Amino acid sequence: MTTSGQKTYYHTTPIYYANDVPHVGHAYTTIAADAITRARRLLGQRVFFLTGTDEHGQNIERIARERGVDPQVYCDGIAARFVALWQRFDLTYDDFIRTTQERHKQGVYKFWERLRVGVCPDGQAAIYKGRYAGWYCPRCEAFKTEDDLRQPDNVCPDHERPCEWMEEENLFFRLSAYGEWLRGEIESGRLQIDPVGRRNEVLAVVKQGLQDFSLSRTRVKWGIAVPDEPGHVFYVWVDALSNYITALGFAEGGAHYREFWEQADERLHLMGKEIIRFHCLYWPAMLEAAGLPRPTRVFAHGWLTKGGRKLSKTTGNVIDAEALVVRHGVDAVRYFFLREGAFGQDWDFTEDAFVGRYNADLANDLGNLVSRALTMVVRYCEGRVPPKPGDDWDPPTASHARELHRASSKAAAAVFGRYEALDFAGALSDVWLSVSQLNSDIAVHAPWEMAKDPAKRQALGYFLYELLEGIRLVAVWASPIMPGAALRILAMLGQPAKEVVPEDLRWGLLQPGSALGKIEPLFPRIEVETQKDAAERKGAKRKESAVSETPVVPASEAPAVVSEPKIDIAEFAKVDLRVAQIVAAEAISGAKKLLKLQVSLGNETRQIVAGIAEAYQPEALVGRKIVLVANLKPAMLRGVESNGMLLAASLDGKPVLCGFDADVPPGTRIK
Ligand code: MSP
Repeated sequence: MTTSGQKTYYHTTPIYYANDVPHVGHAYTTIAADAITRARRLLGQRVFFLTGTDEHGQNIERIARERGVDPQVYCDGIAARFVALWQRFDLTYDDFIRTTQERHKQGVYKFWERLRVGVCPDGQAAIYKGRYAGWYCPRCEAFKTEDDLRQPDNVCPDHERPCEWMEEENLFFRLSAYGEWLRGEIESGRLQIDPVGRRNEVLAVVKQGLQDFSLSRTRVKWGIAVPDEPGHVFYVWVDALSNYITALGFAEGGAHYREFWEQADERLHLMGKEIIRFHCLYWPAMLEAAGLPRPTRVFAHGWLTKGGRKLSKTTGNVIDAEALVVRHGVDAVRYFFLREGAFGQDWDFTEDAFVGRYNADLANDLGNLVSRALTMVVRYCEGRVPPKPGDDWDPPTASHARELHRASSKAAAAVFGRYEALDFAGALSDVWLSVSQLNSDIAVHAPWEMAKDPAKRQALGYFLYELLEGIRLVAVWASPIMPGAALRILAMLGQPAKEVVPEDLRWGLLQPGSALGKIEPLFPRIEVETQKDAAERKGAKRKESAVSETPVVPASEAPAVVSEPKIDIAEFAKVDLRVAQIVAAEAISGAKKLLKLQVSLGNETRQIVAGIAEAYQPEALVGRKIVLVANLKPAMLRGVESNGMLLAASLDGKPVLCGFDADVPPGTRIK
């Protein structure tokens, strides 16, 4: 810790095998590492966040050769794909290490210099030479015991392929001598392993008795040669684990190495549960033998599965995250991954769950909150931040926003405590509790009613100020997971910024009188066509073509009251009537009867102008479904462009909006 109380943290993801292009499983860990990194930076802490690629080993060499390319060229291509995907996911890592880089090789040599002379707790040499024979999985790059494998064919359960019998002379690391020491490290909490089930699993392995492991390979060529041991290259796990220090400039004892490894308050490795033993047993023991500081915290998250199976390019079980990002934005994808499953547990991805959460949490809860609040500020406060209430203001009715005014740092501490524990779903659920309480503040206080009473103008302004501050705070709290959406909300509040900063956590930063930014839909609803809709659409199409050949109503049966000329169905079909949902509404200055509405048609949002201002308050309209004539030519009304017309009945000269008696998705055709 520095003298200012600022803490120093080192966060890592595994370095991912460069055998194939990245998939969502890799993104899952990296997004989580990014979220905890952003959360801690937001608290003003110093964090170094590392990711990278693991590029050596037999498997990668074989794949590259099969594709007819040099392994280095192959790895360059894969590493570039990782970097490109990480950009798409808005990841703020500080460095990207590749194990084929010179800095890494030099670091491994320096590590080896220390390791080769290392002494075990029992006084024996940590390194020795011996023969190794056993079942080897070239995909895991690891020897397996028969118990690990599926019989009768010694199939690796992770890769579903038979292992090979291998015998060779290796350098060994005497892990068997570190059992007691490792137990002490884990039980004392000097090495904190989470979740607790994983900690128990590692302790059980220690209890069973640890096996020495080999540090070098003689069959493999694509790797870092072991100095003075002709024909040996470093075993891929020794090469891989040491990335965590080589990236910090271990070779030359650089400043980053000193600050983020030697002196860090926490050295945190994040990973999937399948590689926890390497990180909790091999890595600390090797560092101890080399006389170097060890990691202080390991978190092993669960697997993201689809159809109950682990994601894998090899088995074709994939999720197209890029398509999700293109369609719904990176923030929604980051939100879903960290909200849907408990971080330590396995969880299954489904498109339905994605759409459900997106619509419920993002489009409805958060999206509507923001658009309703901003619409009211536009209407009642001319689009400017209203006056700020003092701490002593005593509102007639309690509100959550008022609670946040009083105790925002307590609420923030609860959310950030969850981030600290890597409980992302918990942090988001806390934030969303505030979102829904702010929504209910609006319902309870009915600001549009307050607006009618001149005696309540001041209370209305104060209420809206606190509401806007509540929204600003929830955006800042959610920003580690939804950084882009948070900045968009801040921009709409008239606080454009490139990043959130610790200062943003303080209540009351909005300046009364300052103008709001442009109001835009935050998370447009995803419209899903159910099977029933699809069947109805098809059925209706068939009917339409049949009907169009016969008169709708025989002329002789036409009701007498209908005096206007009749149209045939083809003429009617020219009118494109759609369900639309109002996402924002505001008055038009100088036009008493008109409202400017932003309406969503599912896959597009457009602006219309409607003559309903005398009958409807803008903020009461947000979220409401209407009938829209979607193919009207654009028109300018009082200088505002209108791209469609809503349908309403006229009752005593007042418009009454058409509605639906079931929840129909926006964009649905009305016929
Ligand atoms: N190269 C080693 C790690 C060396 S670290 C010193 C390796 N690479 S890997 O490409 O196989 O990546 C494994 C990691 O990717 C997992 O530990 C996890 O972080 C992430 N995931 C890969 N598939 C995953 C899921 N289906 N679900 C969740 N995480 C997954 O092992």
